[in-house]
Amino acid sequence: MSTDTLQADTLAAIAAAASPEALEAVRVSAMGKSGSVTALLKTLGGMTPEERLVEGPRLNGLREAITAALAARKNELESVALNARLVAERQDMTLPVAPALTGSIHPVSQVMDELAEIFADLGFAVATGPEIEDDWHNFSALNIPETHPARAMHDTFYFPDADAQGRKMLLRTHTSPVQIRTMMTQKPPIRIIAPGRVYRSDSDATHTPMFHQVEGLVIDRGVTLANLRWTLETFIKAFFEVDDVSLRFRPSYFPFTEPSVEVDVGYSSKTGKPAAAGDVDKWLEVLGSGMVHPRVISACGLDPNEYQGFAFGCGIDRLAMLKYGMNDLRPFFDADLRWLKHHGFSAFDVPTLSGGVGA
Ligand code: DAH
Repeated sequence: MSTDTLQADTLAAIAAAASPEALEAVRVSAMGKSGSVTALLKTLGGMTPEERLVEGPRLNGLREAITAALAARKNELESVALNARLVAERQDMTLPVAPALTGSIHPVSQVMDELAEIFADLGFAVATGPEIEDDWHNFSALNIPETHPARAMHDTFYFPDADAQGRKMLLRTHTSPVQIRTMMTQKPPIRIIAPGRVYRSDSDATHTPMFHQVEGLVIDRGVTLANLRWTLETFIKAFFEVDDVSLRFRPSYFPFTEPSVEVDVGYSSKTGKPAAAGDVDKWLEVLGSGMVHPRVISACGLDPNEYQGFAFGCGIDRLAMLKYGMNDLRPFFDADLRWLKHHGFSAFDVPTLSGGVGA
């Protein structure tokens, strides 16, 4: 077969190939290991230099023409296939969502939104920090030195290797390191809450290896325990949507606060809600707090003689369980659609103080 006929036949076959598979078959029969064009190219080796001078450019021209035609046809076929898919997979975005497909807002997300709403009204901003923390922010700066027993209490997940700067890395065991990050980057007065995920190697009906906390921090001149008490009372009343509440401050110990208190909320079993003093018949512990330790303030480069403050830390999952009546923590993270459907919130239940923060 002459080179010209071969070229014409192959180009015709390429143009006629109606699918990527058909095109590939043409490519193999021409350019494959034992293809017709490949066989012709191989004959160059046996030619005299004079013959090669004439045949070389001709055969290379043939090869280039076929290669170019193959690529062009491949492009064409691909855009035809893409257009067909775009037409076939077209969605009508104006159709209403099928009810079975509607997601819900997880109770933890809902409670975080409620917290942000309540504290925004008190002048608090929302702060965040990394979940992968270094040892200094999670412990040392919070007055928990290397040898401190509180480090063992936290059941920390450590990373096997130090980071590029040689720092020991871990999954933060509490949201308290956000206090440090905030004090190191912002000037007082500081008023923040920091909701987020925390991690501890612990698992049973009331503990999961990942859970949620909210941290609160106020730093200013002349802050006292009375300011803490008022803030917590205001928060608990707004969160549980009750007019009156009784709080019990129990002396406690946290390395990063002095004095430290644990706060119990007085409950009425009759209403299942926090209640005023006369109606209280049981106490539930809801948070840890205290006046920020002077050592923590100076670790962040502030003068503890000038600035004081209070901090608190509270489990968000526990708040959600108390407010919305769930008694097992584990299903929070099981991703069971039936549970989510039952306990989840509509995306339209945006918490507002005027409408009530509860949905
Ligand atoms: N970080 C503590 C914990 O995870 C909770 C806590 C207690 C936070 C007292 C505070 C605080 O800010 O003042 O157990």
